[in-house]
Amino acid sequence: MILGVGIDIVEVADLERRLERETILNAFSAGEQEYADSLPLQRSEILAGRWAAKEAFGKALGSGLRTEWPLNEIEVAHDAMGRPVILLSARMARVLPFKAKVHCSISHSRAYATACVVIEQG
Ligand SMILES: CC(C)(COP(=O)(O)OP(=O)(O)OC[C@H]1O[C@@H](n2cnc3c(N)ncnc32)[C@H](O)[C@@H]1OP(=O)(O)O)[C@@H](O)C(=O)NCCC(=O)NCCS
Repeated sequence: MILGVGIDIVEVADLERRLERETILNAFSAGEQEYADSLPLQRSEILAGRWAAKEAFGKALGSGLRTEWPLNEIEVAHDAMGRPVILLSARMARVLPFKAKVHCSISHSRAYATACVVIEQG
């Protein structure tokens, strides 16, 4: 059973401006930052995709991103095939219904990044 669906789109240039002016880099986990840094030409796109995934996760839950959530504990990693997977810290996992599974898809171009998250009853 599908419990929730969330989608978000991020303007890459807007995220770049925010990275310059605000302390939002800490919204990304060390692993997310390392992955983005490993692809310098796409760094902003990749971070924008992860920002979109965090927002989409909040939308799929129905609450949106809550200010008390540590965003770097909603982490996007990849499985062996390269598919994005959302890894939650123990405290963030507690916001999910029991045995819920989280599915994520991300796409990005130079201008925009988008992500879709589906939460399913496991
Ligand atoms: C990998 C592929 C799906 C990416 O699509 P694209 O149009 O080039 O790029 P998009 O911006 O739309 O999507 C990029 C995102 O796709 C996601 N992605 C990568 N591999 C994926 C897979 N196997 N399944 C689902 N999503 C995948 C990633 O989240 C990636 O973003 P990220 O690197 O920031 O996490 C596409 O290039 C493809 O099908 N390539 C052929 C297979 C291939 O090379 N696979 C490599 C991994 S084995």
